[in-house]
Amino acid sequence: MSAHGTPIPMTSRPAGPLTGVANVPGDKSISHRSLILGALCVGETHISGLLEGDDVLDTAAAMRAFGATVTNHGDGDWTVNGVGVGGFAEPEAVIDCGNSGTGVRLIMGAMATSPITATFTGDASLNGRPMARITDPLALFGTQAVGRQGGRLPMTLVGAVDPVPVRYTVPVPSAQVKSAVLLAGLNAPGQTVVIEKEATRDHTERMLQGFGADLTVEETDEGRVITLTGQPELTPQTIIVPRDPSSAAFPVCAAIITPGSDVLVPNIGLNPTRAGLFTTLQDMGADLTFENMREEGGEPVADLRAKFSPDLKGIAVPPERAASMIDEYPVLSVVASFAEGVTDMQGVKELRVKESDRIDAMAKGLRAAGVQVDEGPDWWKVTGLGHGNVPGGARVASVLDHRIAMAFMVMGMATQKPMTVDDGSPIATSFPIFEALMAQLGAQIVRVNG
Ligand code: S3P
Repeated sequence: MSAHGTPIPMTSRPAGPLTGVANVPGDKSISHRSLILGALCVGETHISGLLEGDDVLDTAAAMRAFGATVTNHGDGDWTVNGVGVGGFAEPEAVIDCGNSGTGVRLIMGAMATSPITATFTGDASLNGRPMARITDPLALFGTQAVGRQGGRLPMTLVGAVDPVPVRYTVPVPSAQVKSAVLLAGLNAPGQTVVIEKEATRDHTERMLQGFGADLTVEETDEGRVITLTGQPELTPQTIIVPRDPSSAAFPVCAAIITPGSDVLVPNIGLNPTRAGLFTTLQDMGADLTFENMREEGGEPVADLRAKFSPDLKGIAVPPERAASMIDEYPVLSVVASFAEGVTDMQGVKELRVKESDRIDAMAKGLRAAGVQVDEGPDWWKVTGLGHGNVPGGARVASVLDHRIAMAFMVMGMATQKPMTVDDGSPIATSFPIFEALMAQLGAQIVRVNG
């Protein structure tokens, strides 16, 4: 279970160039899915490079509670002995998903069409996030849900005894919603169809195919139509988890804004549904190169080199790119502060319902650091000050959000005065080696007293 009991304030200050190799952890999205799909096969799935962050560890614990045998062999090597589609046992205790929206939403989908009842909870951040987006489509299968006001956790789900397949158009661009419906569709007879108007990360589709499910994807005028045939026998797999592009974003952006830097980030997953940040950085004039482009375990992978980029320009980020970089806007807004001109980010309403309201959290911290931010319900604009001109010197709130904490630590590497976050402990949810890795590159991030 994740503990955010003791806040860990952290300060980041400019400390010369960042250089060397940044081996970032495994992909969070693929790590969750590896454990869940492994639990839905009879037999042993081998996973290497699993992200051992709190979010994924909570999912591992949950899979054990539903009856799978999940074993940590050390160094990111894990095995899952699953129970098969429809084989989940009823958990004896409340499932605590900590900080993880992905964990809870995917697990709810995976149990929703089994005749069992489970109660879910999380930390203060997760218990404030909307779950109706999951329970509404699950109700179509016959699943019942009772939660707090506004569809919040803690929440109990009563799985459908005789699930029916559904046809569902996802109303918000969300891979978690799409994935929950597909995972629920696994144990419904017949064909479950999910339609998304905007493409979101497609790891669930790729991995379900890899595990042997009959799943097709068609691009139509209606959008992406995903058709899954229910009640397959999934086959255990050997999974090599690529390194997380969303974690790579932090050392990459740090190198771009820190004079003299040259950082290599090897083995980064570059699935096009995830790589929008890197295109955006290149559009802004960042010095990024992709080396050794290759395919590993069904995902495109490359080694990414990022160098200090003195001539960054603010740009309008195309709204249709938002889904492919949704977790990267906090750190993009930091890079935008060091660019010349305005970076305009539109079509990003979803940022308001992440681990925090990320537009609000970043706007408050950037303004405290001397950067102008304008915002509306689904857009925000950062007016960059150019290299060397960003004052910094602020203490900002990380609001139980790992990406907010890391974004401000990156910012402090290039501001005039250090940046402090009130609590860096949420970083452990997705990037437990962040401080050590950044220190090895030459950054100065220190834990400070209260
Ligand atoms: C994720 C989907 C995204 C993303 C999250 C991981 C996933 O959330 O923000 O960090 O693994 O499916 P939404 O589905 O809410 O967009």
